[in-house]
Amino acid sequence: MSYYDPARMPSGAPERPGSPTVASPVSPGVGVAAAPGPSHPSRAASADPARDLVARDLVMTYGRSGASAGPPALGGVDLTIRAGESLAVMGPSGSGKTTLLHVLAGILRPTGGQVLWRGRDIARMSDRERTVLRREDFGFVFQQGMLLPELPAIENVALPLMLGGVRRSEAAARAATLFPPLGLSGLERRRPGELSGGQAQRVAIARALVGRPGVVFADEPTGALDQTTSAEVMHHLTQLAAHTGASLVVVTHDENVARWCNGVVRVRDGRIAPDADDAHADADAHAHADAHADSHVGTGRVEAAPTAAR
Ligand SMILES: Nc1ncnc2c1ncn2[C@@H]1O[C@H](COP(=O)(O)OP(=O)(O)O)[C@@H](O)[C@H]1O
Ligand SMILES: [Mg+2]
Repeated sequence: MSYYDPARMPSGAPERPGSPTVASPVSPGVGVAAAPGPSHPSRAASADPARDLVARDLVMTYGRSGASAGPPALGGVDLTIRAGESLAVMGPSGSGKTTLLHVLAGILRPTGGQVLWRGRDIARMSDRERTVLRREDFGFVFQQGMLLPELPAIENVALPLMLGGVRRSEAAARAATLFPPLGLSGLERRRPGELSGGQAQRVAIARALVGRPGVVFADEPTGALDQTTSAEVMHHLTQLAAHTGASLVVVTHDENVARWCNGVVRVRDGRIAPDADDAHADADAHAHADAHADSHVGTGRVEAAPTAAR
């Protein structure tokens, strides 16, 4: 089983931002008018609680005593991540980006608020339920790939499937389908230490997506990479997410990384900054906002976004 139409996905060729396979209207590379195609799932006209990831009034205070712990890491965040779309989360160090990502992904239980996913509140699930959810519904990419150094790339990718009960041979076969479209053909038996930084992150992307998650969470996925390699990694990450229909949440410091996503929100002091639309205050962004008037760019809330085009 292949996840791709190979004709749409260059493999091995040097990728560049804005190549014709990139469907995101806000991706870099001005001048490439990429019409949304099958790789860019159309957005529903209104929120779909059955498929979106919805955070309501999220509050997170670290430590046992909320009163003495200082300001909360999250001070009431409302956010909707639409099915199939990609969202960049930007903001200064310490602003709460990682906390937000971890709460959305069920890694941390918030002090208050809801995280609604497929009709259930993740914030109220037991640890055990959240563990299953993370394994079955979510995928993760971290700054350093966090691959297991002893395992060849193919086994690193197959591992989440095997942990979920898929037979080894089938898991390996499914993992193998992801190598060519990610430009990793021939590297299946390499161990992580024998891969470049960009190759290792592409293996991590394959691992995150192999289980066909509903949402992929990436925390500074290009933080250890140079600009060219970052662009390649974001190209692959956004493409693979789009092809599999996964939503994507990318925490990044880097505007060039954020531009690969459909939307951006900015976090300041544990809140979504209201002026987030400054992030794409250029022609691309306006084209994007016009084409996607329901975008959450500018508000942090998909539902409220028609103002995004201002
Ligand atoms: N495990 C933790 N225990 C206590 N405080 C934490 C912990 N993790 C993060 N914080 C604090 O929460 C705030 C937000 O941190 P974080 O979400 O990591 O920000 P960012 O990812 O934007 O750099 C910071 O003040 C940080 O010091
Ligand atoms: Mg962080």
